[in-house]
Order: sequence, then C-alpha cells, then structure tokens
Amino acid sequence: MEKKYIFVHTFGCQMNVHDSEKIVALMENSGYESVDDVRKADLVIINTCSIREKAAQKVYSQLGRLEKLKSKKPELIIGVGGCLAQQWGAKFIERVPYLNLVFGTHNIHHLPEFIDTIEKTGVPVVKTEFHESVKSLGIPVQSRNGRVSSYVTIMQGCNNFCSYCVVPYVRGHEESRNFCDIVDEVKTLTANGIREVILLGQNVNSYCGTNGSGHDFADLVQEIGMISGIERIRFTTSHPKDLSDKLVNCFSAVDKLCEHIHLPVQSGSDRILRMMNRCYTSSDYFDRVDKLRTVCPDISITSDIIVGFPGETDRDFQATIDMMGKIRFDNIFSFKYSEREGTAAAGLGDKVSECVKRDRLRMVQALQERHTIERNRAMVGKNEEILVEAISKNSREDMAGRTRTNKIVNFKGNYELIGKTISVTITDAYLHSLRGELTKEEVIKC
Ligand code: 5AD
Ligand code: SF4
Repeated sequence: MEKKYIFVHTFGCQMNVHDSEKIVALMENSGYESVDDVRKADLVIINTCSIREKAAQKVYSQLGRLEKLKSKKPELIIGVGGCLAQQWGAKFIERVPYLNLVFGTHNIHHLPEFIDTIEKTGVPVVKTEFHESVKSLGIPVQSRNGRVSSYVTIMQGCNNFCSYCVVPYVRGHEESRNFCDIVDEVKTLTANGIREVILLGQNVNSYCGTNGSGHDFADLVQEIGMISGIERIRFTTSHPKDLSDKLVNCFSAVDKLCEHIHLPVQSGSDRILRMMNRCYTSSDYFDRVDKLRTVCPDISITSDIIVGFPGETDRDFQATIDMMGKIRFDNIFSFKYSEREGTAAAGLGDKVSECVKRDRLRMVQALQERHTIERNRAMVGKNEEILVEAISKNSREDMAGRTRTNKIVNFKGNYELIGKTISVTITDAYLHSLRGELTKEEVIKC
C-alpha cells in the first residue's frame, strides 16, 4: 500500500498541542506518517483556536496558503479541528469551500473514520456533536524518541463562564477522566522513558474523579507522586477560586511536584473581576499567593492578564499595575481584550479604544520584563536541579533543560545528558532563559 503523509498545524494552548499529538497518533495507526513539510502531505489538519481574535485570523491566513497548495494537488484532504471548528461547524465550509472536513473538540477519536469516508466518497464531512469528550481524552499518544516530558489530559471543558471567554462554548462543560485511567497512563509513559508529566485541563483544580472515586486533584497529584520513574509533576491551568489549601500543601508534601504554578489573575481591579465573573477579589488572590509562598518560598508564579476589558478605567488599569508590583510574577501572558461572539461580555458597552488597549498592553509588558529579569537574576549563583530536555535552540554546542521552577537553562554539555536530572550553577540571567554550568559531573538521577 502506498504510504500517506499527514501534516498537522496547531494553533493555541497546550490542550490543542496535546490534541494534535492524539490526531497524529490516531492517523499513524491508520497507516499515515507525520511530516514537517506541508508540501509532502496528503492530509493537512489545522487544529484551530478561537480564544482571541488574533488566533482566528492566523487560522485564515494559513488556510489561504493551503488553497494554493490544493489548486496544484486537488486530491489533498484539508480538515479543521479544534475550537473554531467547533464554533462554526458547517459554516466553516461555507466560508472556506475547499475544506474537506470540519470536526469538533469532542470528535477527535472518530478522525480515521472521517478520513476513510472522504477518501472513498469525496464528500465533505462535518461532525461537531458535543457529547463524547471523555472518549477523546484518553487517546494514547506514542512517546517520541528522546522525549522526556509528556502531557496527560485529566479533564476538559469549563463551567466557569468568565464573561470574556469562549472556552465553555467550544470545549463544553467540565468532564474529568477516570482516576485509575490517568494513573495507568502515567505508568505506561514512565515505561517509555518519560520523566515528567504535565497534567492538563482548562481548570485542573476542579478535577473530580469519576466512577464515584471521589478523588480530587490533590489526591491525583499525590498518587502520581508515588509512581516510580516519574521525577517531575507539573499542571496547568488553575483557577484562583478553586485553588484549595490541600493542593497548596502538595507543594511541600509531594517532592515531585515542581515549584511552579500558572495562576491567571486577569485583572487587579475588583470591579473588573466582578464584570469578568471571576468569583474572587484581588485580596482573595493575594491570600492565595501568600499561602503559596509560605508553603513554598521559591515557587515561581506566572499569570494571564487582560487589558482593556469593557469599562476598564485608568483607575482599574492602575490596580492591575499595582497588583503586579506587589506580586512580582515570574512571567505573564498579557492580552488586549478581544470581543468573542456569544460571550456575556460581547454585549457590554463602554468599550475601550484600540489605542488605549495598545498603550496599556505596552505598559504591562514593559513592567513584566523588569520583574522577569529581577526574578531571574535572583537565581544567579544558585545551584539548580535541571531536567535535560534537548540540544539548545541557541547553539548546537549547548544543551537545554528546565529548572523545577520552569525556567529554561542553557549550558555546555553533551546530548547523552538528555533525560537526566543534573545540578547546574546559574551564571547569567536573561529575559527568556538562564545560563548555567554543570555543578558537578555526576548526574543526580537518570
Ligand atoms: N480577550 C482577550 N484575552 C482573552 N483570554 C481569554 N479570552 C480572551 C478574550 N476574549 C485570555 C485569558 C485567558 C487566556 C488563555 O486567554 O487571559 O486566561
Ligand atoms: Fe475561560 Fe474562565 Fe474557563 Fe478559563 S476559567 S477557560 S478563562 S471560562
């Protein structure tokens, strides 16, 4: 049988990155091989994101490029999955007539059948039914050679309905995966050489074990912490309102839980937080950060901030700046508010002008750069435990790994260190990475 090739282009968050890994694994089982060169592909899947306007625009430009490719190679199958596909369904084919397939966030596990139908009939397929997510959550992903870290989906969907956010509409309501299935998946990954797992979900803190197990997220972290072979546990994303003391205490009680938390705050203004339907105040957020830093003084805290939410005054914005000054995040993702169709905030008046949003974004980013550098410089001279991941992107003579606080460290070393945990002394600090030297030749764990 002639070999067929699949190319997957991923937009958006880590959930999408992991969904793309599942897409590749499914199609590899159906005889496809994954390629990095789109021109070689017989099947192209665009895994879309609709969280902000910019993300959706990028999907269109990519599709525009594919139209040219398809005009030269008419048998090319082009499919779109992910959040934008879920949102638009059949309307996607009306807007982009050369598409062969639109599949939703809960339908990934049917992909080989969809492709088979298209190959046999040539008829486009649109499937966006919204009731089968759990089957998609557990699709096994082969661990690639040399990989040391792997995502593990533990839940998907979201019940929070933050007023700006499209996720609950495109990913559905919260559904947790079976506790034992997750633990078994992690055990299988360790057998394939994986040393670090990143537990994924839109709101991992509200994980609730199914089949009546009653296990919460902290129980899951503790259980995974007991699996030999796993050295590091990370998770993302957390909602501040659901960050329990029990989970915070895991940062000292579970050795393998890395000292990093991504805890999106969105705004420092209580008025805006209320309008965003975030269900906490700035003071609740400060309390959570205090508790985290009491339990784990070196914890790295990263966050998301939106500027220019409708009605955001200079005073509201100043509250965000003040909060950043007080907390001094290790890093943030910052965004201009963009209206998303169907969300509660789309109906709000008193919109902030594009130019004010741009200025506010610049101010937030400039301040954060100062804080990031300050937090990174504080690590110079310290010995850090690094899990070596790959050859450095900067230089082929360097290796790259991450600290437990999720900072990239480049250092002189050889590729045999990949997958090993070593000790490095930090010698320099930059905005996006640190530089280090091997502290001692011997490896801490391998
Ligand atoms: N506009 C701007 N930023 C948004 N985010 C989510 N929806 C919007 C929107 N409509 C940001 C939030 C969230 C991150 C993943 O994306 O900060 O935490
Ligand atoms: Fe969106 Fe809020 Fe759910 Fe996060 S918690 S996915 S911002 S609705």
